[in-house]
Amino acid sequence: MIMKKIDISSHINGIQLSSCIMNASGALCTTDQELSNLFDSSSGAVVTKSCTKNPREGNVKPRYFEWNVGSINSMGLPNLGIDFYLNFLEKKKTKKPVFLSLSGLSIEENLFLMKKANFSQKVTAIELNLSCPNLREEVLGNDLYKISTFLESIFEFNKKPLGIKLPPYFKEECIINMSLLLNQYPIFFVTCINSLPNGIFIDTDNEKTVIQPKNGFGGVGGSIIKPFALANVRKFYTYLRKDISIIGCGGIYSGKDIFEYILCGASAVQIGTQLIKEGISIFDRLKKEFTLFLKKKNYSSINSFKGKLKNFQ
Ligand code: DHB
Repeated sequence: MIMKKIDISSHINGIQLSSCIMNASGALCTTDQELSNLFDSSSGAVVTKSCTKNPREGNVKPRYFEWNVGSINSMGLPNLGIDFYLNFLEKKKTKKPVFLSLSGLSIEENLFLMKKANFSQKVTAIELNLSCPNLREEVLGNDLYKISTFLESIFEFNKKPLGIKLPPYFKEECIINMSLLLNQYPIFFVTCINSLPNGIFIDTDNEKTVIQPKNGFGGVGGSIIKPFALANVRKFYTYLRKDISIIGCGGIYSGKDIFEYILCGASAVQIGTQLIKEGISIFDRLKKEFTLFLKKKNYSSINSFKGKLKNFQ
């Protein structure tokens, strides 16, 4: 019998990925060691921790907690500052695509970071994070007017492939309006979704919250958010220009989960909570599971089913 080769490579608006599976920003991608491990792993790309102009310590600990079906965090953007990430990449010999995640504390800071990132040959693409839920400032991803003036300024100088990390939306209207706006710009991709903001998890033994910052409130990730993440991917796939790729993120644990995201229209996926839980070897496991899943389904590549989710009847 001839064995059909199963190909899990993909591309983000032309950026080639040897595997469609990568880390989510924030998950084991802050330090030199963590990033080196990601480059050495079988992930299809490396995404860096969202960075700011200056290094930040982040919020007080404990600031991350996980339970069987989820995680909650209020990290407060601990990162080594954009210069660290650009210097690290400058020294790195690699062919793996690198997505530099930027999360300035203001529009001015984001413009500064974007300009700086534009000078680096080593940055494949920028993932602009407009959805960090743990800062006092309003999430820009929820303000269409501000985003449009911001994008106008960005595209006056930007030459790098640009993607936007979006918060979860719970109304179709929000997704339609955001899509109509993004469709007017030469955006390469969107990443859906960031964590669900303002969750809380309670330790009943001690009658306490489990993380210290913000009285215990934080962004929720992990398998409990998957239905919302899939819905956001599906709706954006419906309303975005077809050349804008979607990276799906939220609650991926298995190869089957990856299949679901691609069926909804994602071109690639990111792993957050489960990467933190399981460590870097997760990329080998997911690659194997996803390949086996496709084999059972008799699919040999992502393109044969991407976006082809059917309605019930
Ligand atoms: C942090 C959390 C996020 O969900 C995000 O997108 C960026 C930063 C944080 O708290 O560090």
